[in-house]
Amino acid sequence: MALTPLIAGNWKMFGSRAMASRFAEGLTPAALPTGPDLLICPPAALVGLVASLFAGRGVSVGGQDCHAKAEGAHTGDTSAALLADLGARYVIVGHSERRADHGETNATVRAKAMAALAAGLTPILCVGETLAERDAGQAITIVRSQLQDSLPDGATAGAVVIAYEPVWAIGTGRTPTVADIAEVHAALRAVVGDGVRILYGGSVKPGNAAEILAVANVNGALIGGASLAASDFLAIAAAAPTA
Ligand code: PGA
Repeated sequence: MALTPLIAGNWKMFGSRAMASRFAEGLTPAALPTGPDLLICPPAALVGLVASLFAGRGVSVGGQDCHAKAEGAHTGDTSAALLADLGARYVIVGHSERRADHGETNATVRAKAMAALAAGLTPILCVGETLAERDAGQAITIVRSQLQDSLPDGATAGAVVIAYEPVWAIGTGRTPTVADIAEVHAALRAVVGDGVRILYGGSVKPGNAAEILAVANVNGALIGGASLAASDFLAIAAAAPTA
């Protein structure tokens, strides 16, 4: 079954109102590829603005994280329901920077993914090995168990998106070989079955996107640095194969 590719940008802790406006101006009908689904995940404080700036421009909006609880006394956190209320359709959960900076475990990530589903959002669930784990030959075992332990109950095909992001490839300019990407994606596919999009993330750029997006079981990309300018983001999206 051919899955529509998802090209997702993660602005991380970058961006401003001015930057969001510039990005929106780059989303002209002529510049927009027709094949893939497009998504930008700005910082939570910009989600509402970006949703209104992008309205009718063919790019969905998502959050970068949500709390596992529907609401409550959790200072500084953002609920999935609020993200949805602001216009988000997706939310990233379990990004390796959240796992490292905030001690998020697979159980935390699973609870967040369930909160996202309950709020009507599609969670983008991230997994990925460290360089030490890859060098020790444990990459497949690690990502498989991360996925099994963080996948929410009752996640039907289409309700979740998986992102394979090797920690050592994020923001480093280094990427795995296409053979390595194919091997990991095949292992993840065996866990989730057909119908679930599996994105690759980690140093995806306009120059390597076509090669990566053509790998078997790669159904799109999660892009950090190269998603900050509309021109780079759209160049990557243009490299997505049509489903
Ligand atoms: P990068 O980040 O594209 O800057 O490597 C990817 C990510 O962390 O999602």
